[in-house]
Amino acid sequence: MRKILLISTALLCGFVLSACDAGQYETEKTGKMVEVSEAKIDSLIGLMTLDEKIGMIHASSSFTSGGVPRLGIPELVYSDGPHGVRHEHGRGWHALDGYDDRSTYLPVGINLASTWNRDLGYQFGEVLGKEAKDRSKDVLLGPGINIIRSPLNGRNFEYLSEDPFLTGKMAVGYVRGLQAQGVASCPKHYAANNQETDRHNIDVIISKRALHEIYFPAFRDVVVDGDAWSVMGAYNKINGQYTTHHEYLNNEVLKGKWGFDGVVVSDWASVKDTREALIYGTDIEMGTELLRDFDNPVYEEFYLANPAKEMIESGEIDEKYVDDKVRRILRLMYRSTALSDHGPGQRNVEEHQQVALEVAREGIVLLKNDGLLPLDKNEIQTIAVIGHNATRKYAERGGSSQVPALYEITPLEGIRNLVGDDVEIIYAEGYEPYYDESLFADITGDAASQSRENVREVELAQSANQELMEQAIEVAAQADAVIFVGGWIKGHEGMPWGQGTYDAEARDKLNLKLIFGQEELIQRINAVNENTAVVLMGGSNVEMENWLSDTPAYLHAWYPGMEGGTAIAEILFGKVNPSGRLPMTFANAHTDYPSHSIGEFPGDGTVDYAEDIFVGYRYFDTHDRDIFFPFGFGLSYTTFEFSDMSLFVHDDIVRVQATVKNTGDREGAEVVQVYVHHKNPSVERPIRELKGFEKVHLEAGESTMVEIELDDMAFSYFHPDQLEWVMEPGEYQVQVGTSSRDIKLMADLER
Ligand code: GLC
Repeated sequence: MRKILLISTALLCGFVLSACDAGQYETEKTGKMVEVSEAKIDSLIGLMTLDEKIGMIHASSSFTSGGVPRLGIPELVYSDGPHGVRHEHGRGWHALDGYDDRSTYLPVGINLASTWNRDLGYQFGEVLGKEAKDRSKDVLLGPGINIIRSPLNGRNFEYLSEDPFLTGKMAVGYVRGLQAQGVASCPKHYAANNQETDRHNIDVIISKRALHEIYFPAFRDVVVDGDAWSVMGAYNKINGQYTTHHEYLNNEVLKGKWGFDGVVVSDWASVKDTREALIYGTDIEMGTELLRDFDNPVYEEFYLANPAKEMIESGEIDEKYVDDKVRRILRLMYRSTALSDHGPGQRNVEEHQQVALEVAREGIVLLKNDGLLPLDKNEIQTIAVIGHNATRKYAERGGSSQVPALYEITPLEGIRNLVGDDVEIIYAEGYEPYYDESLFADITGDAASQSRENVREVELAQSANQELMEQAIEVAAQADAVIFVGGWIKGHEGMPWGQGTYDAEARDKLNLKLIFGQEELIQRINAVNENTAVVLMGGSNVEMENWLSDTPAYLHAWYPGMEGGTAIAEILFGKVNPSGRLPMTFANAHTDYPSHSIGEFPGDGTVDYAEDIFVGYRYFDTHDRDIFFPFGFGLSYTTFEFSDMSLFVHDDIVRVQATVKNTGDREGAEVVQVYVHHKNPSVERPIRELKGFEKVHLEAGESTMVEIELDDMAFSYFHPDQLEWVMEPGEYQVQVGTSSRDIKLMADLER
């Protein structure tokens, strides 16, 4: 239907936009933009009425924005989310029941970041591009690249890291892989959307230095290096102005300094003012019905609909602002396959499931192992698998990032599949999740008031859990080894699409305490069985001080996707050598984090980022604070040795070389991390900052020379007064390590 419309319209209007023309703009495999014909876009805009232009700059349904049928310009079609193509919604907000809707459920963003493997980033995006295209989507609403500022943010699982360099480099691969399929990426949420509490209105008070050094770099990377064709605004304000139509963020930085010529798509209902949206860079307004009449949206009443038309017709705002928005939208259409009817995609194919497995294998982090792992199934008769999360499925929860997974291998299934009949597996749930209102922050960030009926529900749940615990301890005591699978849950039954509880969109946690009585359960399991491995799910860490020391082994799995159970079992039994590295610092309590101890979280109306640039290891390492596991940390079943570090300076490039050797008896992968330390800065700087990394896979005994290039930006900081990037002449030290606190080699140099 669409192709016929396109050709007949082209004939009718006698202009050049036709399937074959649009098809000339095949998207090259590199994801690089191809030369787009501005002349063609000019001719199209010249044919449009004001109404037709206005129709393109706001939603025409829950997940489409307007086209111009008369000119053969289709609607743009969007889909969540960052780790899988979401439930099909058609033109409303209710998932289409019975729709052939299954998709590949990849591990979540923080799993991907934990791989520190750029190639997997590309493959991740490629899978999403093929699956989105198969569903005729033009824009995939991801990746989520907000910085993990506090471990309490309900959406940390969707994001990548506390570090802007790791976030940006992993996101660039994702964006390129996605767009190489002709589907636009939409990195989100620009910018400083680092909490869910009061997200629609919170005003982030933040310095320009912190914006440029921490919260902007990943967005700059995806725009400048990734060629992102769209970017999503955020709900929050920054220093008093809504980010979706923020003069500094959009006009001065994104479209000015960084030269972004793509589309700024609002978050759903993040547009709050017509005039600002017209002149401060919002190109498409989506989702405003979410804050109005959800079921009977009137798109003509959107901010960028009739109200915008009136401002243009009255002469208050120049029509050139609308023309620029339409130009950007048409550019995206040409660059993508929006005009060539998408072409064939692929969905639910084995290759995609294999990528999900690879990302899970490389993105699960082994944090402690006193020798218990890997388990040898030939040495064990009985294993107790304990914990609700051993059988829980996560795909369809967590908010807008939900995915209708074709299947999801749970840890229990993965373990059973791997050991087969060699080992007897006994399962005990150990605890049942329940919805405890007092576990969540309310809109002011204080503990939500707990209703009387919820108090009663929680009491009943806790007494039921006592019984489950006793059963679990009995099973643990009789087994040769125990695998406990617990941690957080993503979303929760009884809440709309799993929103609003635990790890989920729209709510933050109140603390990092293990929920549902798991801490006592782990302690008691350790007391009856010294061969216990703990596997935790979750978008961040949990408090560990009361159970970690007595636990022989601990694996953090985040939410590892549809093949997560397979990967967990393969690592526990040594079929796969873990190579995940933490993309965030694991301290103990949330109050240890600078966003709580120096800054505010979640604030009240305003939230003060007083910690400024000292986020994550930039704070913990600079102030030598106690933590459990540092940024970049992760264990392996083999060992590595570093040697022969050299620096070669050529003008503005410093080439760092180092040799890595696998000194163990099995293959494995190491992540070589390069940090820069400024010895004598004239402004306060973190003790070190990640400025390069490379993951190397080595056979036992194999060694390789790794070379990483540092440009001037690697030594620069954003001057708090000059408000520009400066590379200060002085003494620097380049550090090569395997975490922010395990520096193996270092070399000084003058810059
Ligand atoms: C949500 C999210 C955004 C998502 C959009 C569409 O509120 O903030 O990440 O892509 O709306 O569902």
